[in-house]
Amino acid sequence: MTKEQLFIQLVEQLSSPKLFYGHGVVDAQDEAMMVLMHILKQKVDKILSTGQENIAQPYIDKARSYVEQRLTSLKPMAYVLGEVNFCGLSFISDERALVPRSPFAELIQNGFKPWLNMKNIHSALDLCTGGGCLGISLAKYNKHIKVDVSDISDDALSLAKENKDKLSVEVKLIQSDLFQNINDTYDLIITNPPYVSQTEYDELPDEYKTEPKLGLVADQDGLKIPVEIMLSAPKYLSKKGILFLEVGYSDELLESAFPAISFEWIEFTSGGDGVCVINRNTLIEHESLFQSFLNKASILENC
Ligand SMILES: C[S@@+](CC[C@H](N)C(=O)[O-])C[C@H]1O[C@@H](n2cnc3c(N)ncnc32)[C@H](O)[C@@H]1O
Repeated sequence: MTKEQLFIQLVEQLSSPKLFYGHGVVDAQDEAMMVLMHILKQKVDKILSTGQENIAQPYIDKARSYVEQRLTSLKPMAYVLGEVNFCGLSFISDERALVPRSPFAELIQNGFKPWLNMKNIHSALDLCTGGGCLGISLAKYNKHIKVDVSDISDDALSLAKENKDKLSVEVKLIQSDLFQNINDTYDLIITNPPYVSQTEYDELPDEYKTEPKLGLVADQDGLKIPVEIMLSAPKYLSKKGILFLEVGYSDELLESAFPAISFEWIEFTSGGDGVCVINRNTLIEHESLFQSFLNKASILENC
């Protein structure tokens, strides 16, 4: 059997209506290629240019078994393979943290242009780091930046440690409920916190239910943690510091919760949205709005 024939067979199986694509994989073709890249340890170009070459039976068996596991477990393929490519780097991926898929990858790869000159950034925090994909990629491509990564989950941090070791990157791991155990200030804070409401979570496809719920769901229609971050961030940003916050499809909700703030949303060329950029002064200016949003929720919660 040739590589091309196996690819066609995998695509056919992966086109099952049981499966949902939304973890950085676009469709069945994309996922079949991900499997081939994993088993053959080859890049797309190489696989495409050698499509007529035969594949040894053990590779065929392995590929079929991965697809079988995907179909029976409904886990995202990254968990099945135990590996995912993010920001041009190979990360270990398993149920200890969400599958990396953030559009932050594009920002990191293009040096946060036009918002930042990376030469002027000396320290950065990846808050809610999960398996470390954002902070570790940032550190890998910017060796001069001192990067800290933090998360409330010990499981997530143990995965981040494995990824940092695998990719030989220097980052400090901090276990922290948001900023609770953070004692430094940073030129840059990047964060992809939980921003899904419980109602939205209930309706998500099965694949998302295999990820840690702690990484997805936040109170107050998904906005509680993002707003807590905007409220507290100024204390942890240097004077000219800047926050990049991902809220995904909760962007419109955030806009409508704070009509007085003109959020600056980033446009991505390779897909994804819902990341805004806010400097420290703007965050300070709107502190009372963030506080009253959070106060309203505590009143309701205490009723
Ligand atoms: C959406 S995931 C993001 C993971 C990773 N940064 C990424 O982009 O793939 C959110 C992460 O926030 C963490 N988290 C949830 N609540 C938190 C809190 N109160 N303080 C710190 N981290 C928290 C979860 O454990 C999870 O790893």
